[in-house]
Amino acid sequence: MAVLVTGGAGFIGSHTCVELLNAGFEVVVVDNLYNASEESLKRVQEITGKSLKFYQTDILDREGLQKVFDAEDIEAVIHFAGYKAVGESVEKPLEYYYNNVTGTLILTDVMRKNGCKSIVFSSSATVYGDPAFVPITEECPVGGVTNPYGRTKFMIEEILKDYYVADHDWNIILLRYFNPIGAHESGRIGEDPKGIPNNLMPYVSQVAIGKLKSLGVFGDDYDTPDGTGVRDYIHVVDLATGHVKALEKIREMKENGADEVKIYNLGTGHGVSVLELVHAFEKVLGRPLPYEIKPRRAGDIATCYADPSKAKRELHWEATRNIDDMCRDSWNWQSKNPEGYDRD
Ligand code: UFG
Repeated sequence: MAVLVTGGAGFIGSHTCVELLNAGFEVVVVDNLYNASEESLKRVQEITGKSLKFYQTDILDREGLQKVFDAEDIEAVIHFAGYKAVGESVEKPLEYYYNNVTGTLILTDVMRKNGCKSIVFSSSATVYGDPAFVPITEECPVGGVTNPYGRTKFMIEEILKDYYVADHDWNIILLRYFNPIGAHESGRIGEDPKGIPNNLMPYVSQVAIGKLKSLGVFGDDYDTPDGTGVRDYIHVVDLATGHVKALEKIREMKENGADEVKIYNLGTGHGVSVLELVHAFEKVLGRPLPYEIKPRRAGDIATCYADPSKAKRELHWEATRNIDDMCRDSWNWQSKNPEGYDRD
């Protein structure tokens, strides 16, 4: 039986496909390639020496999804597919709600019709809003989200919880990611954002390669040790192995019956400031990185880092790579693929 990975050609999706194939899972990818490249999947197969199946299908396309379920024997779904830009979601709320929420409704309806009720959902620490406390445990209150993107993640979590209430045959794991960065150590797959990056690490990498002039550090007057924002950066390969562990948990839930919807934070438990990340990157680079302090970015919070002990306890998973590893691997990817997947 195979695992269906929606959004499998994307940044986290492609790294998860590598770890799934390495762990011996059969992998079927569904991706509309809206924000991803099929080249990433070629490279996933090159890295692992194993093959996967790819369908260029949109999760809003009910018939297209049905064809995948007709052709493949799917034991569980890992659902990454979705729009993910916070700023854009404020401009295009309808598109975000339609794509992310309706897409998930269609996907899960097709799953149910085909007797597949096991799903690992790609959620986000954004559901904690401005967190009530740090380190953030899974019990921290959720829902105080300030943008449509984050609200789609929160809404989908609530929808999936309701499925379980109505039908205990569902096996559901919600994974709340902190800030994924880094790349596969081969430098063959990595993050390839369209246009000017919104997130810190891809911006830093593009300044380093000379595509962008200087990094704007959004605020140095937060209540943090050096005044800049603190986040829990997690190496994307650690995040990917978390999905393999989640699937093993899903198999256990299928066998014994799920007693609840399982929720796990995937983070390192360590907070790193913007300037600490910049300095770690400079060490890898061997030269200073131009940056300037800018005003705070609307909607940003001061500090966000995980208490990942529940994932360690129940999934037997733990992040093993530190910020130096993350900077090294991000730079390795960026320097080997200055134009991302388009030209190399
Ligand atoms: N930052 C800068 N300059 C930049 C970009 C970011 O100083 O050019 C700062 C931000 O102010 C923040 C930190 O770097 O302090 C991290 O910002 P990112 O945009 O990389 O990440 P966020 O924490 O804002 O958001 C990320 C994901 C969201 C997700 C959230 C979960 O982008 O999808 O983590 O906590 F919801």
